[in-house]
Amino acid sequence: MNSSGIGIAITGCGSATPTQIMTNDDLTHLVDTSDEWIHARTGISRRHLASSEIGLAELSAQAAAEAIKRAQLTPSEIDLIILATSTPDDLFGSAAKVQSLLGASNAVAFDLTAACSGFVFALVTAAQFIRTGVYQRVVVIGADILSRWVDWSDRSTCVLFGDGAGAVVCQGTSDHDNLLSFELYSDGEQHDCLNLSYQGQKKSLKDNLTISQGTYEPITMNGRDVYRFAVAKVPEVIEKALFRANLNADDLDWLILHQANQRILDAVAQRLKIPSEKVISNLGEYGNTSAASIPLAFDEAVREGKIKTGDVIATSGFGAGLTWGAAIFVWGI
Ligand code: UT7
Repeated sequence: MNSSGIGIAITGCGSATPTQIMTNDDLTHLVDTSDEWIHARTGISRRHLASSEIGLAELSAQAAAEAIKRAQLTPSEIDLIILATSTPDDLFGSAAKVQSLLGASNAVAFDLTAACSGFVFALVTAAQFIRTGVYQRVVVIGADILSRWVDWSDRSTCVLFGDGAGAVVCQGTSDHDNLLSFELYSDGEQHDCLNLSYQGQKKSLKDNLTISQGTYEPITMNGRDVYRFAVAKVPEVIEKALFRANLNADDLDWLILHQANQRILDAVAQRLKIPSEKVISNLGEYGNTSAASIPLAFDEAVREGKIKTGDVIATSGFGAGLTWGAAIFVWGI
């Protein structure tokens, strides 16, 4: 138990994915690639892509509504909604729209951006509000529609990403704390490895006064550098979080990493000596869904009955920023 006497329990989860599916074979009609290459290098077979009719807020609200229901709460009992996303429908934020779609009229809602680490950063942020006693029931959502920002003629990135949303409910507890530890990091020195950057043109409004106007350019990534970063930093950050929780890798029931690449999942598990049966992987079906990937994989594993109440889970998000982080938690009340 931490010094405030207030702990955290993760009591509900949910997810939502678009119904449209793009297979590896479908991608061969867009770029010079093959199912063999994509599958061997990433583990991805398909990805779900949002149509123009579905927004980030709608997808997020679907996942959150399910999580709230599974936590046996009603939307009006929610105090706070944190939406981790890099692809809001509105740059001013989409969380308040999610609040309205849910009917969570007593909640305050805000967006948080930390790319593929967003869910872990948001979970830890939620925990701070709960531990200080400010809020008791918090919905944490990870959601992204990266298909909006992918260059569909760039084979080095377009084969990787998919769309989705996942959510958990965190609640304050008085006698135990199921968020056992966390570690968060960022390194802006490596910012250029992975970007969805604003690009503007100089525009003159009057003599000696110029501003910039433009838009966001599609995702660019130095895949090899990000890969090297992930396989070096992710095992390290999980080891640090395990140390803080006074646990060993053997004590873990499950490892849920950001679903970026099966080779990264395998390399991290190998470094930590975690058997592959304990590694949750669903990127074959969804690809890399950025902030959604961890809560989506978590929700599926709970629904499949793999993850059971009381199981100890290590999770780690990593990606643009660069940012990375880990959390060790116990599922359920
Ligand atoms: O979510 C944020 C975190 N993101 C990540 O963690 C991504 C980390 N990086 C990766 O997962 C991998 O680096 C990739 C999957 C992106 C790429 O795999 P790789 O094994 O690092 O491939 P590579 O970039 O070294 O490219 C190898 C070859 C190149 O051809 P040459 O130069 O050897 O002739 C590429 O042009 O594969 C080629 N290539 C492709 N070929 C067929 C790159 N993309 C494709 C493709 N289809 N889609």
